[in-house]
Amino acid sequence: MEKQTRYSELLSQIEVFANDADHPISVLCNCAAVMKTIFPEEYFWVGFYIVEGGELILGPFQGTPACTCIKFGRGVCGTAWKEQCTLVVEDVEKFPGHIACSSLSRSEIVVPLKHDGVVVGEIDIDSTQLSTFDNEDRIYLEHAAEMIAPYMAKLAKPL
Ligand code: SME
Repeated sequence: MEKQTRYSELLSQIEVFANDADHPISVLCNCAAVMKTIFPEEYFWVGFYIVEGGELILGPFQGTPACTCIKFGRGVCGTAWKEQCTLVVEDVEKFPGHIACSSLSRSEIVVPLKHDGVVVGEIDIDSTQLSTFDNEDRIYLEHAAEMIAPYMAKLAKPL
């Protein structure tokens, strides 16, 4: 199936799961699950990091065990937080300070979740292939981030 078609499906599913009736942790769990289900090959690891003080804390995810705590400005995740923008990394080995949670990860995209202009968390996705993510992924995932951010905001503890 085309990437565009799969992202349209992803956004529709997130719309269903992102609802006020559920606990925000349940919302994030289902969003991670649906992302992994729709992109089983491309998304080796997909999950959330939650802003707590000056750190990102591991949230709901699908994939192998991951780093539990990332400081502001560190790694791809901490840098995306500091710069407040999406980072598309074609080759993680070429990103200075990249934090390797799995030696299988080769490329990565990190999308900040912003609520009222403040970064409250992030979507992090790793791939086992080089250059998996491009501008199209960025646009769709930033749309997903907008839908998910209000739920992340209920869990985050920004400084
Ligand atoms: N690679 C990330 C760490 C998180 S794992 O990929 C799940 C980073 O450099 O911040």
